[in-house]
Amino acid sequence: MCGVVGYIGSKEAAPILIDGLQRLEYRGYDSAGIAVLNGGKIVSDKEMGRLANLEKLLAKAPLAGSCGIGHTRWATHGAPSQLNSHPHFSSDGAIAVVHNGIIENYAELRNELAAKGHRFLSETDTETVPHLIEQELKEGAASPIEAVQRALKKLRGAYALGILFRDAPDTVYCARLGSPLIIGLGEKENFIASDVPAIINRISKAIYLNDGEMAVLRADSVEVCTIEGEAVEPEVKEISFKAEDAEHAGFETFMLKEIHEQPRVLRALLEKHVSADGTIEIGSGLSPDYFRKLRRIMIVSCGTAYHAGMYGKLLLENLTGIAVETDLASEFRYRDPKIDPGTLVIPVSQSGETADTLASIRMAKDWGCKIFSICNVEGSSVVRESDATFFTNCGPEIGVASTKAYTAQQMAFALFALYIAGVRGNLTPEQVKDYLDDLHEVPDAVHYVIQKKEEIRVIGEKHHDGPSSLYLGRKFNFPTALEGALKNKEISYQHAEGYAAGEMKHGPIALISEALPVICICTKTADEVYEKMLSNIKEVEARNGRIIAVATEGDTEIPKLAGDIIYVPEVRDEFTPMVNVVALQLLAYYAARARGTDIDKPRNLAKSVTVE
Ligand code: F6R
Repeated sequence: MCGVVGYIGSKEAAPILIDGLQRLEYRGYDSAGIAVLNGGKIVSDKEMGRLANLEKLLAKAPLAGSCGIGHTRWATHGAPSQLNSHPHFSSDGAIAVVHNGIIENYAELRNELAAKGHRFLSETDTETVPHLIEQELKEGAASPIEAVQRALKKLRGAYALGILFRDAPDTVYCARLGSPLIIGLGEKENFIASDVPAIINRISKAIYLNDGEMAVLRADSVEVCTIEGEAVEPEVKEISFKAEDAEHAGFETFMLKEIHEQPRVLRALLEKHVSADGTIEIGSGLSPDYFRKLRRIMIVSCGTAYHAGMYGKLLLENLTGIAVETDLASEFRYRDPKIDPGTLVIPVSQSGETADTLASIRMAKDWGCKIFSICNVEGSSVVRESDATFFTNCGPEIGVASTKAYTAQQMAFALFALYIAGVRGNLTPEQVKDYLDDLHEVPDAVHYVIQKKEEIRVIGEKHHDGPSSLYLGRKFNFPTALEGALKNKEISYQHAEGYAAGEMKHGPIALISEALPVICICTKTADEVYEKMLSNIKEVEARNGRIIAVATEGDTEIPKLAGDIIYVPEVRDEFTPMVNVVALQLLAYYAARARGTDIDKPRNLAKSVTVE
């Protein structure tokens, strides 16, 4: 989604804005622009495509000034073009605005403003904002802040806004509703950003604006108030991760770095939540008695986090006997799910800013449900709107395709399910300890798979060229099949479908030919699923499908069937998805590399989907 940055201090603003925008590149964008206050006027440059294009422009004609705003745009209203890029301006050029979000009533406002003589240059919803503020000044607003407040009250939708006024030197205005905005606090300089990584190299303290709040930033002060004008005493938070966490650290891409971080992330979660005597601490703020009486859980999330939710459902049902449902947040929010106040709702989100997930939380709260989220980003909207949060503590995930956040979400569910099973007596303390011993083997097993990346690379490169691929799995590894297919299509742009293997005969079997790579997740299990999966593989083999299997070390059946095999270490059935998916992340990674795609910033994708 769009990235917003802003700076006020004594340094040159343009290089700081560009650096911040570069650090937000991972969010996805199609054009970029900045505006800087320069001796009584606002100067600006915008360019289509990569930031490097804008940098070239600035290298030829630098924009001087120590107060500015910048933006990377991910087109929603109007095609990617220079005219549609931000910043957008008022008619007299005295107000510049950058915006992340969607102004839903922009058409109506635009008509009203056009009738009052405003001319619009772009097709964007954002351009109404500077014109509206300009109109408020014309109609008697006594100051920029009053004009902003009056304008904001007329907007419907979501926004994180950065605003400059030609006539308010050395001041950046900002406001937030429904889209994240952070104020970074420096020494005689202050920043705004839509995401911490944009400014993490410059600050260690930040204010997370709440919905309906705005702020006025000068080099040595930050004043926060509501859009109604009520002063707010902001909470200043220490940023818990370091600048290095948002760097490549020698890896060719962020995605590869983040795949490699998984053993460490999983180990750290185990260390944090399991004490030496085997007690699990999940920090739900809910009493053991609450869990003993709990009858229903509803998990809501999107994309990869939805696959983690599917895994969570299987595990929770299996270990706790509680009825668990999972749904895509975008579906959940528009159906009539018959949720009673006794249902525990678990939103899962890496970013904590996904619009549909947030809307689902708000609905569930209206129904009186408790919200216990699984989330990676401290201070994010999901965290702030939940009763309690299990933090996945992965550090910033910069690669657009989610990897470490996924396995950390799975680990969160594993710990949560074992905690509840212990509390409810579904498992004895000895059984919980057994499970925990097995869970502790997962980080090493993941590390082992990562060590095999060269073997996986060869397989990925061998099968990268076809138009399509099919991923099959069962039970705990059905979500793994969906996630493997999602990773592949996201970064390699090869069409990929994930299917429950038992569904194969009901349709997808028609696709099988010698041209179709079929990725079969068939690790050893204690129940009949392994045998069933073997039968499915035989069906693929009988139709000359190209079988790539993910199998357990030492398996003697799979080599008789599969052309290529990625062997993974044996772990307890329930925990195999955390290990198997890493093989599929790497497979997708190397297929994408062979196809020459932009792995960290795949086309059309945004890291954090803050609009519906
Ligand atoms: C896929 C991916 C997306 C996200 C989805 C939800 O690799 O990253 O599918 O999982 O957009 O995002 P969060 O977890 O931030 O709510």
